[in-house]
Amino acid sequence: MRQKRKRFEANKWLKHLIEPRHPIYNTIKGKWNDLYFQNKHPITVEIGCGHGAYTIGLAKIFPERNFIGIDIKGDRLWKGGEEAKTYGLKNVAFLRTQVTHLLDFFAENEVAEIWITFPDPRPKTRDIKRRLTSIRFLNLYKAILIQNGPIHLKTDSNLLFNHTLDLLQEKGIEPLNYTTNLYRSSLIDHHFGIQTTYEKRFIAQGMQIYYLCFMLK
Ligand SMILES: C[S@@+](CC[C@H](N)C(=O)[O-])C[C@H]1O[C@@H](n2cnc3c(N)ncnc32)[C@H](O)[C@@H]1O
Repeated sequence: MRQKRKRFEANKWLKHLIEPRHPIYNTIKGKWNDLYFQNKHPITVEIGCGHGAYTIGLAKIFPERNFIGIDIKGDRLWKGGEEAKTYGLKNVAFLRTQVTHLLDFFAENEVAEIWITFPDPRPKTRDIKRRLTSIRFLNLYKAILIQNGPIHLKTDSNLLFNHTLDLLQEKGIEPLNYTTNLYRSSLIDHHFGIQTTYEKRFIAQGMQIYYLCFMLK
């Protein structure tokens, strides 16, 4: 608890972290490249980024793109914000918000690509609508993505993976790529060898990693 409080306090001084007290928090919608990144590079968003390992990893590999990690948990985002500062990354931001409020922060066509990394599987039937690949979330992603902007999902959850494939089928969408075992697949290069905090845990437990890439129509 004390560590969480310390991190919340430290977050006030992290320039990469856009949270409610930040001056641009309420005005950033549609202006990420003008107000924050100050370039015209395409934006990749990571949904439920936790400690931000994936956002940081991608930002280091692709300096010509901008990356925004989104999560509701400030103490987790602290880690990403600290790393962005340590590595002096200018193409990274972390945004603290509920994903349900995505449209308050991004305009139509503002995002080029989305990664959803190890979302909570929410196995209970009553929680289906809270899965980050449920229809209401897919509709939010569609509203901010450019046409044909890819969405990538990495998960340890067979249930969430199959649920997402079923939803796509219902919508008549053919996935671009998928595998039920990323580390034994020819698609392995698609994740650029970056492992998130949760992914490392799951791999240590011997779990297989599912990967799916699709575009919304
Ligand atoms: C299982 S963790 C995975 C974290 C990270 N992607 C990783 O792989 O290490 C899921 C993350 O999603 C975040 N999350 C879940 N639902 C969310 C929502 N509706 N809005 C914002 N963040 C959410 C949680 O706070 C948590 O950090």
